[in-house]
Amino acid sequence: MKSLNMAVIGCGNIANYAHLPNLLKTGQKLVATCDIVEEKAKQAAEKFKADRFYTDYRKVLELKDLDAVIIATPPDTHKEIAVDAVRTNKHVFLEKPLAANLEDAYEIYSQWKRSNVKFAVGFCLRHHGMFKYAKELVENNTVGEPVALWRIAIGTAIGVLPPMGWLTDRERSGGMVVENSIHMIDAFRWFAGDIASALAQYKTERIGINIEDNAYIVFTHRNNAFSSILQSWTATHTHESWGIVGKQGTVSVKGYVLGTMEVSSRSRGLEEVKIEEDPIVMYEKEMEDFVKSILEDKPVFATPLEGLKAMEAAVAAEKSSKEGKLIKLPLIDY
Ligand SMILES: NC(=O)c1ccc[n+]([C@@H]2O[C@H](COP(=O)([O-])OP(=O)(O)OC[C@H]3O[C@@H](n4cnc5c(N)ncnc54)[C@H](O)[C@@H]3O)[C@@H](O)[C@H]2O)c1
Repeated sequence: MKSLNMAVIGCGNIANYAHLPNLLKTGQKLVATCDIVEEKAKQAAEKFKADRFYTDYRKVLELKDLDAVIIATPPDTHKEIAVDAVRTNKHVFLEKPLAANLEDAYEIYSQWKRSNVKFAVGFCLRHHGMFKYAKELVENNTVGEPVALWRIAIGTAIGVLPPMGWLTDRERSGGMVVENSIHMIDAFRWFAGDIASALAQYKTERIGINIEDNAYIVFTHRNNAFSSILQSWTATHTHESWGIVGKQGTVSVKGYVLGTMEVSSRSRGLEEVKIEEDPIVMYEKEMEDFVKSILEDKPVFATPLEGLKAMEAAVAAEKSSKEGKLIKLPLIDY
């Protein structure tokens, strides 16, 4: 099978943990690494055997025979890099969120829509065993059409840690909901369809940051399902769960990507389902899927349209909290 020439732009946490090793595991060629911090680009090139390294992504896009790029930089840089990558006809895997704000997200979407490139947004939960099984239970009518969905994410991400650079800067990350809860907003959309409105309350407990670190959101989907997110980064210990109450049954998870899954329905009693999967597996699968979409000309698992719709819901939630009222979607014309 033909292999692709790929480059990784942004050699930080997620690239080193997942994307650099995973693209090699899928048998692709890493032709270049890039990071504005030269040492990071160099180290990644050495460790993952890239031919060259760069500090300017534009030089990467000039490379002859480059097929695809993986962009794993902070959200505020996504628009410039992704738009240029699409303009130069490269296939793109872009880490979530699509961008740090809705305007940038829309520009990425518009550029992609006018192109013929494959463009996947890194909504990795779509490749996680428990999330895939929950989707199957909705579709095979064990759980059936979603009525109420939830995610409780009481955690310590920044509550007990020092502020983490771009993450706690709203202009750079988009905030806790845009940068982090967006995974679950996408999962809710995947399970229950498009979102019609958002009602939310945000607050910031930690001194010295300009993003929300606590959020309570209720979305209503077009099919009238409710989905809610309670996320707090103020907690002193972690407490997580998510699930779907459907018209025929219920699936619930104590935990997030690691945890205990329980399923019940009108025709079967409560059962525990064991899906114990190292989180790295979902990142391997999303990379395999992206590569396959290019080599076999198949649809990607999450397009910029999905990225834009999740972003729009997150922005509607923020607007609801600011204005103290229900916000109806869409906020923009697609
Ligand atoms: N899917 C997931 O589960 C997951 C997990 C973590 C992070 N992420 C996302 O991945 C992205 C990166 O997050 P991270 O935790 O790896 O951040 P990070 O800060 O560890 O890494 C980002 C890297 O990008 C580099 N960079 C910044 N601007 C650049 C530019 N213009 N050109 C080239 N390099 C540049 C930085 O120097 C840094 O090394 C974010 O969008 C984040 O939301 C996704």
